[in-house]
Amino acid sequence: MWRRYLLWFAQEHVDFRHAEMQSILDFLKIPINYIEKPSTLKPYWIVEFPSEECAKQIASRSVSMRNCVELWSRAKTETQLHKNLFDAMNNSTGKWIFQENLTNSDTSDLHICPKELIENCCSGKKSFKVDVETFCKHFTMKEKVDKIEKFAYLPLEGPIKLNKPEITLCYIEFYGMDPNNVPENPCDVFFGKWFIGNTSMDAQLAILMANQAQVRNGDVILDPFVGSGSLFVAASHFGAYVWGSDIDFMLLHGRTRPTRVGQKRENYSLTEEHLVNHVPAKVEYVLPHIYSDLLGFAAREEYAHAQLPAHPCMQLVANSEQVLSRSTARRLLTNH
Ligand SMILES: C[S@@+](CC[C@H](N)C(=O)[O-])C[C@H]1O[C@@H](n2cnc3c(N)ncnc32)[C@H](O)[C@@H]1O
Repeated sequence: MWRRYLLWFAQEHVDFRHAEMQSILDFLKIPINYIEKPSTLKPYWIVEFPSEECAKQIASRSVSMRNCVELWSRAKTETQLHKNLFDAMNNSTGKWIFQENLTNSDTSDLHICPKELIENCCSGKKSFKVDVETFCKHFTMKEKVDKIEKFAYLPLEGPIKLNKPEITLCYIEFYGMDPNNVPENPCDVFFGKWFIGNTSMDAQLAILMANQAQVRNGDVILDPFVGSGSLFVAASHFGAYVWGSDIDFMLLHGRTRPTRVGQKRENYSLTEEHLVNHVPAKVEYVLPHIYSDLLGFAAREEYAHAQLPAHPCMQLVANSEQVLSRSTARRLLTNH
């Protein structure tokens, strides 16, 4: 039986999310069934995979995905969610009962899982806990405990264990994406078995790039602009051989200050060993050139797709923007 999952994404590098997921699904050849059409306005997807192993494989690569919940129910209100879960305990059809809703942005209220999902998890006196997560709204511990207690009807037989239980169940309330306009009640609520939690960190972009490049064991990765080598760290972690260059000799040798045309090597106390393969920068980039380039750049029109570099032998498969400041951004262009 295909399993239904709630994939929750980190709210960072949002524009890379879809491209990274598509890339991973494509190169790991993971079949996916979208229960709802993914929306860039929401930090989650509801999908089905043929096995739990597929969800694990994606989680082992993706940086965008923050956690993964094996979904048992989903509704627009807390009351409806409890009704769905209650009905699920009598759903012996072996299938999900739900409203398909792929064509419009409205969310489906009826998601009743087959009772086996709940029974398999609740039987056997496994230790458990229930977590409450809220998106865009804060609740006190007391309020969270009140919400947890409403799940008392679930046939959980094992002891409650807050530290490393065998099963973690998860109740999530989503209050939209606008912190300045938080509704009174959640617009989407979810319940299921906590499955995988990833961490998000600053090396995210390097792993995103490695995923976009579909790096796997034995690949050769060329980065002509090595810099501090973060792409290389991510790519070699996935088993690639890395090879690159950088105009900045000092950076390549783990020193901070950049070399300049005509700079005296004594300034940096370079050794003969360092100089063997050193090709110093020879092209001068003097002030008038910088000035005219900056003016030319400033006079360009707004970003347009047609400005992107292209090649007839390559097909652009993803174009993801990383916003750096209010007026600057950079793009990761993935070509196959
Ligand atoms: C943003 S960093 C690269 C980051 C790197 N790819 C990573 O994964 O961490 C850009 C690097 O490009 C180098 N660079 C700029 N112009 C260059 C050129 N014409 N040839 C080689 N390297 C260049 C700079 O010295 C800088 O280290």
